[in-house]
Amino acid sequence: MYKYGQKKRRLKPGTFPPLGLKPRGFHALKRSFCDMTTPCVSVHEVVKTYRLGTSLVPALQGISLEVADAEFVALCGASGSGKTTLLNLIGGLDQPTSGSVTVAGVEVATCTDSQLAELRNRAIGFIFQTFNLIPVLSVYENVEYPLVIRRMPRSERQPRVEAMVAAVGLRAFMAHKPGELSGGQMQRVAIARALVTEPRLVLADEPTANLDSRTGVAILELMQAMHRQHGTTFLFSTHDHQVLRYADTVYQMQDGQLRA
Ligand SMILES: Nc1ncnc2c1ncn2[C@@H]1O[C@H](COP(=O)(O)OP(=O)(O)O)[C@@H](O)[C@H]1O
Ligand SMILES: [Mg+2]
Repeated sequence: MYKYGQKKRRLKPGTFPPLGLKPRGFHALKRSFCDMTTPCVSVHEVVKTYRLGTSLVPALQGISLEVADAEFVALCGASGSGKTTLLNLIGGLDQPTSGSVTVAGVEVATCTDSQLAELRNRAIGFIFQTFNLIPVLSVYENVEYPLVIRRMPRSERQPRVEAMVAAVGLRAFMAHKPGELSGGQMQRVAIARALVTEPRLVLADEPTANLDSRTGVAILELMQAMHRQHGTTFLFSTHDHQVLRYADTVYQMQDGQLRA
C-alpha cells in the first residue's frame, strides 16, 4: 500500500531525457520528474521585462541560482524586488524574456502548454500568500482536489488525504469549510494540498505575509518539519527577516538582482 513519504526510485542518468527536448508518454513524464540526478531548480541569467503601456519594467535583471534537492531555501527582498516574478517563472506560470529556467531537468521555456500543465501538476506544489483554497469545498476536499485532477482512484486517495490532513494538525477540521478556519489553519490546508501529490518542489510566495508573526513562525516550522520528514525541496519568498533563520540557504533580492 502507499506509504506517505516513501522514497522515490533513483533513476540512472539519461534514462529519461528532459521533457522539452523529447516529448514522451504520460508515464515517462511522471518518472522524468523523479530523476534526482539533475538539480531541482536551475535559473540561468534570467531577465524578465514587463511592458506597461509604453514603458518597460525591468522586474528581473540577470538572475542565476541553483537549488539542490531537499534544500529549504528563502528568497528575501523588499516589495517590488522581483520575488513573485521569479517564483512564477520557476513555477511555469510565466516565461522569461531571456535566460533559462529548468525545473526537475525540464527547460520551462521550451515546454508546450500541456507539458507545462503536466510539470505543474506532477512536480510542483504551490502555496500562496492568500491561501487560494476553494471556499465551497471542505478541508478534506481541498486537499483531495489535486489527486482528483490526477484521476487517482478514491480508495488510493482517501488514506493519503487523511494522513496529510492529520500531518498538518487538522484531523478534527476535516469537514470544515475554509471560511470556518483561521488564517493559520487555512495555510495548513494549503500546505497539505501542496504536499499531497508528493511534489519534488514546493514554491511558496510569502506564505506568512497574511498571518500574525506567531502564526507565521508556526507555519514556517510546519513547512520545515514537512521538508525534513519528506525530503521535499522548498523555495519560499518572504520580506520578514524573522523567518530567515529557518532557511538552509537565503538569497537576498534587490531591484531584480541577487545581492552578493
Ligand atoms: N504584470 C506586471 N506588469 C508590469 N509590471 C509588473 C508586473 N508584475 C510585476 N511587475 C513589476 O515588477 C517588479 C517586481 O515585482 P514582483 O515580482 O511582484 O516583486 P515582489 O514579489 O518582490 O514584491 C515591480 O516593479 C512590479 O511593479
Ligand atoms: Mg510578491
